[in-house]
Amino acid sequence: MAAALGTTITPAAAAPVAPRGNNRLPRHRVAASRSRAAPARRLALHASASPTATADAPDEAVAEPSVEPAPETKLSKLACPICYYPLVGASDQSGDVSSLECSSCKKIYPNKQDYWDLTVAVGSTEYSESMPAATELFRTPLVSFLYERGWRQNFIWGGFPGLEREFETAKTYLKPTIGGTIVDASCGSGLFSRLFVKSGLYSLVVALDFSENMLKQCNEYLRQESISDEGLALVRADISRLPFMNGSIDAVHAGAAIHCWPSPACAVAEISRVLRPGGVFVASTFVADVIPPAIPLLRIARPYISQITGNNTFLSEVEFEDLCKACGMVDFKFVRNGFYIMFSATKSS
Ligand SMILES: C[S@@+](CC[C@H](N)C(=O)[O-])C[C@H]1O[C@@H](n2cnc3c(N)ncnc32)[C@H](O)[C@@H]1O
Repeated sequence: MAAALGTTITPAAAAPVAPRGNNRLPRHRVAASRSRAAPARRLALHASASPTATADAPDEAVAEPSVEPAPETKLSKLACPICYYPLVGASDQSGDVSSLECSSCKKIYPNKQDYWDLTVAVGSTEYSESMPAATELFRTPLVSFLYERGWRQNFIWGGFPGLEREFETAKTYLKPTIGGTIVDASCGSGLFSRLFVKSGLYSLVVALDFSENMLKQCNEYLRQESISDEGLALVRADISRLPFMNGSIDAVHAGAAIHCWPSPACAVAEISRVLRPGGVFVASTFVADVIPPAIPLLRIARPYISQITGNNTFLSEVEFEDLCKACGMVDFKFVRNGFYIMFSATKSS
């Protein structure tokens, strides 16, 4: 029988918790819906300030998962990217949680040592898919290695004010969400994720990126800087298919990323889906919007450039506002400097 939308789903199992560079969990933590989970590492899933998530999943799937309260953990923050149902820890022979399993479709999501792989196609053996160049570029070991070693610093030439000032502006926009769960979407090597963790402003920081190598770098920096990953989860996912339940996230931050996303529209729609009412989306990106109007040929070529390269640097703040509005977000604000923009929008209540 079809269940009503808005059914509250609570996860069946404990949040897996593992040491850095080793996402495995001892057996006693698997059984842990019954015992208090210790501070977690890659998949730390702690209490959030957000209201209880509601799983507005497809009707036919609602009756399937066996769900039971697990007040100690917040596995409800992660969901299967295929059906958006909660994930539960699955233990291997040694009793460690080595993978997560969807409580509905039963798909297994593996622990890749440095991060949890929550991409849709994970586990497929024959199928492989290339993303547009703007996404694939950051998957390479070289660019991931160079990113914080000079690449990102160059953004200053485009008007980016630098990490500290960007972080300060982002925090201003994010004030209403403090204490909750923040997703640092397209975190790259985790430069902002680390700042969010160090700030102690959020109960959970999810560092999320599509690039395996960026996530490895992220882990490396965490280790180098001896940053506790208590309250931090590293997740590989596609921005257009986020592994979170509807309305379960307080804030999404996306630094210097929208111009790299294959479809900003699908991504913003996903972000809106996972944000709770009143949740905040903050993003910075390049806006080379003054160039196409000045060069008629470029104006004509703009959509083709985006299609071929996957790069969306020619969008304007008017288009971003329009897109946020179209995806159910309000209260659009922004600051600009040259080709740099940081904007915020709030999920309507
Ligand atoms: C320019 S970097 C930004 C990194 C960091 N947030 C910053 O502020 O410097 C863009 C990031 O977007 C990620 N990205 C590109 N396409 C993506 C997708 N489809 N899903 C998730 N992340 C994606 C890349 O892997 C890369 O790490």
